[in-house]
Amino acid sequence: MATDAPVQIPRQRISELIEREEKQLNERTQRSKETYTRAQVHLAGGVASSYQLRDPWPIYLERGTGPRVWDVDGNQMWDFHNGFGSMVQGHAHPAIGKAIADRYASGTHFAAPTEDAIAVGDELARRWGLPKWRFTNSGSESTMDAIRIARGTTGRETIVKIFGSYHGHHDYVMVSIGVPYHRIGIRDSYESLPYGGGIPQSVADLTIPVPFNDAGAMERRIERLFDEGRPPACVIMEPAMMNLGVVLPEPGYLEAVRELTQRLGVLLIFDEVKTGLCIAAGGAVERFGVTPDLVTLAKALGGGLPTGAIGGTEEAFRTVEAGDVYQVGTFNGNPLAMAAARASLTEVLTPEAYELLEAREERLLRGCQAVIERHNLPGYAVGLGAKGCVTFSPEPVVDYESFKANQDGELADLAWLYNMNRRIYMTPGREEEWTLTVAHSEEDCDGFVAAFDEMAADLTA
Ligand SMILES: Cc1ncc(COP(=O)(O)O)c(C=O)c1O
Repeated sequence: MATDAPVQIPRQRISELIEREEKQLNERTQRSKETYTRAQVHLAGGVASSYQLRDPWPIYLERGTGPRVWDVDGNQMWDFHNGFGSMVQGHAHPAIGKAIADRYASGTHFAAPTEDAIAVGDELARRWGLPKWRFTNSGSESTMDAIRIARGTTGRETIVKIFGSYHGHHDYVMVSIGVPYHRIGIRDSYESLPYGGGIPQSVADLTIPVPFNDAGAMERRIERLFDEGRPPACVIMEPAMMNLGVVLPEPGYLEAVRELTQRLGVLLIFDEVKTGLCIAAGGAVERFGVTPDLVTLAKALGGGLPTGAIGGTEEAFRTVEAGDVYQVGTFNGNPLAMAAARASLTEVLTPEAYELLEAREERLLRGCQAVIERHNLPGYAVGLGAKGCVTFSPEPVVDYESFKANQDGELADLAWLYNMNRRIYMTPGREEEWTLTVAHSEEDCDGFVAAFDEMAADLTA
């Protein structure tokens, strides 16, 4: 954090710069505009997922290689978005490409187990220190199945999640996220608020949100749920929040959560869909040294193909192995995805790759923090492994309340526009962060810092 009180940036200046940068981005993406007109005819909103929407039009991409992508206008950009953190290997990695090509020639789908699925399970067990694994096709499927396993194991219906944490698009967890500050409610009794239409309140009511970084509040809420006759099956949480920028666990927090869940007989699920494979070879479990009952993976696991995984203790997987809980799916452990995952784990995401990611991350964080201090901006740089961001807040963000109370969302919007106009393809959204790849060079990181420096200078001129 900067030591002096941060500068007050006139709101008018931010608005002017947003207007200028938006105009410039729109001028540079005219082909995307044309594509949007065509795409809207049969793709709802012109996109494949609502997370790809953008006003006035989405930016359509054409190709990617290593750390770079090109949009349909031919704009070449350094990719720091990386498919919402899925492409830590970089685009079109030759080792993954070879594994996919070889597998294609031998058939891509049987809905029967293959050797690669065994190898991937073995490697994940080694990295996470959890003995049992199953596969899915996405992060949402992983968290949905992990919750079902917890419910099946305990015979309970209620679950606890962290307020503001995203765990995918199924009904159990599309609860109490993206809520404006005034709707967060009282800390000890946060409300279960469905996120968007189509989610039954009766399902949302089974999901109880608690604040991050506050083991006392979690314990009190769980004890009350016992008193009310609806004890929870599990706590599902990101060990480091990666959907409010990056929010790190405070020292002792994860240990306290592990201790209290164990003592109260509640399963602990670490959702490592974002942290897994990106912040260490064995994700947050390795990084923080706390082992949950179940862990969920997806995104970076498939090296660019859709896949996910659930890992767990012998105990947690007993109901699945006994055939009491169905963990199923036609494409689970798809041979093509497993071949890509195996190559990624054994040939790309090696110990040397993690050393390189750490070095690049440190350079990027140091560079961004230096810009903040030089211009005395209200914010700080924060990250772990391949993931990081600048949080535009004069106060440290420790949970959803402090995020909503302090984040300067307009500065986050402006930073995205500055990046896009300076060939930095960055994750859209005020809650997102960058993901580095093993293909990023020091110069790519310096380019990111230079774009940020330009914005800081323009803001404080
Ligand atoms: C922490 C976390 N869990 C689960 C998911 C859902 O993953 P998917 O979009 O692959 O369903 C996401 C997606 O961003 C996530 O960030």
